[in-house]
Amino acid sequence: MIKGIGTDIIDIVRIKNSIEKNKRFVEKIFTEKEIGYCEARMRREVHYAGRFAAKEAFFKAIGTGYRGGMGWREISIENDELGKPGIELSGRTRDFFKKKKFKNIHLSISHTREYAVSFVVID
Ligand SMILES: CC(C)(COP(=O)(O)OP(=O)(O)OC[C@H]1O[C@@H](n2cnc3c(N)ncnc32)[C@H](O)[C@@H]1OP(=O)(O)O)[C@@H](O)C(=O)NCCC(=O)NCCS
Repeated sequence: MIKGIGTDIIDIVRIKNSIEKNKRFVEKIFTEKEIGYCEARMRREVHYAGRFAAKEAFFKAIGTGYRGGMGWREISIENDELGKPGIELSGRTRDFFKKKKFKNIHLSISHTREYAVSFVVID
């Protein structure tokens, strides 16, 4: 049974500016695995933007939005060996997810030159 859906669209230039102007932005929002993935790519801001959109889509799918002490870094977007993205939870976000009896998270990401979009389904 579907328990929640969430989507988000991000202007890639906004993320590019945040990365370049604020050194702490990346460390505040992204996990080490996410940083490793994005920094290894030609246009890192594209992949950071997709992950930022995925985190916001996740918060929409669980129905709370970004609040309640849940941290950006408690949601880690990780790709499998075929490149398919998934979400690993930790900390208070994982506790909340379990308390709500949510089971699985499905994630899709896409980018153009200017925008990154993400879609999350929770069952
Ligand atoms: C995966 C694929 C559908 C991506 O589509 P695209 O139009 O190139 O790129 P998009 O911007 O829409 O999507 C990119 C995102 O797709 C997601 N993705 C990658 N592989 C995926 C897979 N196997 N399953 C689901 N999603 C996948 C990733 O989240 C990626 O973003 P990220 O690297 O920041 O995490 C496409 O490249 C494909 O079919 N690849 C497999 C075959 C292949 O590699 N062919 C080489 C070219 S002929």
